[in-house]
Amino acid sequence: MSPGKLAVIFGLGVAAGFIIQSGDPLDSWYPVWRETGLLARAVVCLIAGASLFTLGWLHGFLFGPLELLRGPDDVGYIVENGRSKAQAANEVRRRRRTGDLPPVYPNGWYRVLDSHTLRRGEVRSVTVLGEQVAVFRGQDGEAYVVDAYCPHLGANLAVGGQVMGNCIECPFHGWQFRGTDGKCVKIPYAEKVPDFAKVRIWPSCELNGQVLVWFHCDGEDPQWLVPEQQEITTGEWVYRGRTEHFINAHIQEIPENAADIAHLGHLHTPAIVSGVDLRYTNSKTWEFLRHDWKVQWEPEAEPNKHCSQMLVKHALTVFGSTWHLLDVRVLARQVGPGLVFLLIEHSFLGRGVILQCVTPVEPLLQFVTHTIFYQSNIPPLVPKFILKAESIQFERDVMIWNNKKYISKPLLVKEDSAIQKHRRWFSQFYSENSPQLQHQLNTLDF
Ligand code: FES
Ligand SMILES: [Fe+2]
Repeated sequence: MSPGKLAVIFGLGVAAGFIIQSGDPLDSWYPVWRETGLLARAVVCLIAGASLFTLGWLHGFLFGPLELLRGPDDVGYIVENGRSKAQAANEVRRRRRTGDLPPVYPNGWYRVLDSHTLRRGEVRSVTVLGEQVAVFRGQDGEAYVVDAYCPHLGANLAVGGQVMGNCIECPFHGWQFRGTDGKCVKIPYAEKVPDFAKVRIWPSCELNGQVLVWFHCDGEDPQWLVPEQQEITTGEWVYRGRTEHFINAHIQEIPENAADIAHLGHLHTPAIVSGVDLRYTNSKTWEFLRHDWKVQWEPEAEPNKHCSQMLVKHALTVFGSTWHLLDVRVLARQVGPGLVFLLIEHSFLGRGVILQCVTPVEPLLQFVTHTIFYQSNIPPLVPKFILKAESIQFERDVMIWNNKKYISKPLLVKEDSAIQKHRRWFSQFYSENSPQLQHQLNTLDF
């Protein structure tokens, strides 16, 4: 329960106690209370309750994490003509021309959930890369990811399944599958468990406060590891918030943004105070405040050719002159198709990282999270401001992505050359059997 809610409950309890009580302890402490009528007492108590509520809110604002969890139709669509947000989003999805798309699920590591949301003995249902998986934490504390559908008669292990030791028990007939290798270890009504009774397990790992899975279209083993951010493991950097977004686009569009240097000088230059709706971001009111970006994108060499780096130098200009307080350096290190480590460094506001994770839910629907970990000795308001500013800039991209078409042969000028370089780099995550978009009716309505 949030501190705000606790404060309200506490405040209301105290208020009710004082209002109904006669001869209460306050009488002896403050004789004036005895003279006070019921209405005045109620007012005093309400003010006390409201003050406690404000204090609770203030505590959350100053010290709690920032959590901006957007629904699939919340951001990046133009809602007009009396339509609902869901109608507007569905219409865009139905009408869009997809273009000549690359395969839809690149090989790589993808985040499935945050570690703290999965306690020992719990199971969760998650959709990744168009598949249903059951993620559970065994009594040994390890997180396991298995195909959600039981091989016996197809029940969903994540819907009513129970964690037994390090196994998951199917809710339908009670078969138990081991998290380590997927082997069925118990069929409650059968004499013998056949050797072939197995559920498919997904290679997974847990670090940086997240559970991740490896996907390869041919079932190959992981070709690289997810790097550990030591400062998160040691507790030097702590969790300060996260954002969640759904994006209606091909996965490649999102990392390609890093190599699209020209868009920074256009889309991301208006100050964050001018908002996320691209129809209004260029408003005259905030013209005096601009973001200035200097960036460079480069792939890394062997043995890290699955990584690339974008170095960003950000400055804020006020009436054309630089305001150095917001000079920030960000090293955005992309690791495979689905993970980016945005390492933030400020001269006196400290260091931290935003983990940007892109996980395809279905061919043209990406689930993106930004999770910030920051130096524990820096006031939480600093990383929360950074995350909020980042999410405003990101939501501008979302409005582009949600409505755009993928252009396989873009019309580029010399200054756009990093985009082609990025596409060549990204193509390493596709192999011959990588799944292509099947032209089928999209059944997921928001
Ligand atoms: S469907 Fe899972 S045990 Fe029968
Ligand atoms: Fe962008």
